[in-house]
Amino acid sequence: MTNSIITGWGKCLPPTVLTNHDLESLVDTNDDWITSRTGIKERRISHVGTAELATLAGKRALAAAGIEATDVDLVSVATCTPDMLIPSAASLVQDALGATNAGAIDQNAACSGFLYGLITASGMVQAGVIDTALVVGAERLTYFIDFTDRGTAVLFGDGAGAVVVQATDEPGGLKASDMGSDGSVANILWAPGSGTATNRMELQRNHHLQAIAMNGPEVFKRAVKAMGDSAADVVAKAGWDLDDVDLLIPHQANVRIIDATARRLQLDPAKVFVNIASYGNTSAATIPIALTEALESRRVTPGAKIVFAAFGAGLSWAAAAWEFGSRVEPLGTTDEELPPTDGNVMTLLADNFAYYGGGPAT
Ligand SMILES: CC(C)(COP(=O)(O)OP(=O)(O)OC[C@H]1O[C@@H](n2cnc3c(N)ncnc32)[C@H](O)[C@@H]1OP(=O)(O)O)[C@@H](O)C(=O)NCCC(=O)NCCS
Repeated sequence: MTNSIITGWGKCLPPTVLTNHDLESLVDTNDDWITSRTGIKERRISHVGTAELATLAGKRALAAAGIEATDVDLVSVATCTPDMLIPSAASLVQDALGATNAGAIDQNAACSGFLYGLITASGMVQAGVIDTALVVGAERLTYFIDFTDRGTAVLFGDGAGAVVVQATDEPGGLKASDMGSDGSVANILWAPGSGTATNRMELQRNHHLQAIAMNGPEVFKRAVKAMGDSAADVVAKAGWDLDDVDLLIPHQANVRIIDATARRLQLDPAKVFVNIASYGNTSAATIPIALTEALESRRVTPGAKIVFAAFGAGLSWAAAAWEFGSRVEPLGTTDEELPPTDGNVMTLLADNFAYYGGGPAT
């Protein structure tokens, strides 16, 4: 069987920062509570749409892989916050990249979406259906955040990350995978007015139906179990011992969930990649952003055995046992950047406050 390895990686974080101290002027919360209960210090608010974030992360991943957009057979975008439902975010990204030989598909498994995309694209490469895929996780989650709800306002942020997976004879790539879902508890993390299920008159009366609503403690409990079990499952299926694992790159939702997952795997905390303090939970984007930063900080060595694990709305979960290739340096870079913004976070959120209510206390 052909192997499918990661040959390129990239991230795109919009520059405008919303700090815990900024949040203190929006809801009844404080930096100490947020830091100790979640590990988050700040998050990014995007001034551009999801596809634009995805496209720049994608360009950076293509540059790192040293390939052209026309070499890509499939653009797979994991997102639950696309610019629009029709067409897919992936089609917008495919066009913006000039990936004229690629098919394009969105995958929505919420925060597990990037792993669903990585596993399905890698499976297609291994099966010989395609040679090269660009797999992106991209979100503009803060569009769906009601900043009067302190249970969600402190957690989420915007961003994108991407990888290129390519067919190779070199050893490595996807060694084992697990994907799961329990839709019976869909309502513990959802945005019920974000699709066609809601009566439009009702939505007009209650905009909050469009915002992400969550039963935090219930999600927490299930996340620890789902992510821990899924990660343990792929380690066993790959035939690895826990000592073999070089790095756990988990979904970044809450540092306490990450710690519990590492404990479940009896993994040395030094082998766990955590960057949640800087970006909060960017849903499908957390893992490709974290992988990119793990590569940038040389935490990924040639042939490294990596466990990816995620959970999210659905509830969905996924994990992958992944052996990295021999190259951990990018082949190239691009100097493209997002269009400029004045970086005033409260101005950027003004539309959100006008819709859901709230705003800085004066
Ligand atoms: C949301 C979350 C951080 C809340 O932390 P928690 O330890 O479970 O806290 P609880 O909800 O039990 O609330 C504890 C107290 O803090 C308060 N609180 C909740 N949010 C707060 C905030 N942002 N600031 C200050 N206090 C807050 C609660 O009102 C409660 O007060 P009380 O004891 O007086 O009733 C946590 O449940 C979580 O991270 N859950 C998973 C969420 C997640 O990962 N979602 C994305 C999935 S991909």
